[in-house]
Amino acid sequence: MLSGNLAKALSNQFNAEYYSAYLYLAMSSAADAMGLKGVANWLFVQAQEEMAHGTHIFEYILERGAAPDFNDIITPPAVFSDAGRIFEMVLEHEQKVTASINNIATLAMQESDHACYQFMMWYVNEQVEEESNATEILNKLKLISGNNGLLMNLDAELSTRVFVNPFPAKA
Ligand code: FEO
Repeated sequence: MLSGNLAKALSNQFNAEYYSAYLYLAMSSAADAMGLKGVANWLFVQAQEEMAHGTHIFEYILERGAAPDFNDIITPPAVFSDAGRIFEMVLEHEQKVTASINNIATLAMQESDHACYQFMMWYVNEQVEEESNATEILNKLKLISGNNGLLMNLDAELSTRVFVNPFPAKA
């Protein structure tokens, strides 16, 4: 069974993953309003991934015999100036998520909960990818620097992203 501290930390994380989904849905909506359908698609897929993360952590809490807590999910920002600002915020947000994931992994290690530590390693590795993806897109947007033709090319590239459930149902 999970310790009380780990159950609380994982509960906060599962709620935070749903907040991430809210945030990316808000960004997706803003990108759609800017006419950037590909950016909107990329962010919508990102939101779907966050919901999968939240559900995965929720199920793990139950599997370990604890009861998840439900927090209020705050309203995400509604106004974003441009795609560059959106991806700056994506990167800043993912860096905060990384810190939170690392804190839970550290707590699991301190409590010698090897199973939870192992569970958190998937998220530690995932965060490397999350930060890398956001950085790559942000760097491209900086290079594009107001060139609308190049922005349309990037938008087309981002329109190809599809959601793949990282945790397919067990057979
Ligand atoms: Fe679930 Fe973007 O971290």
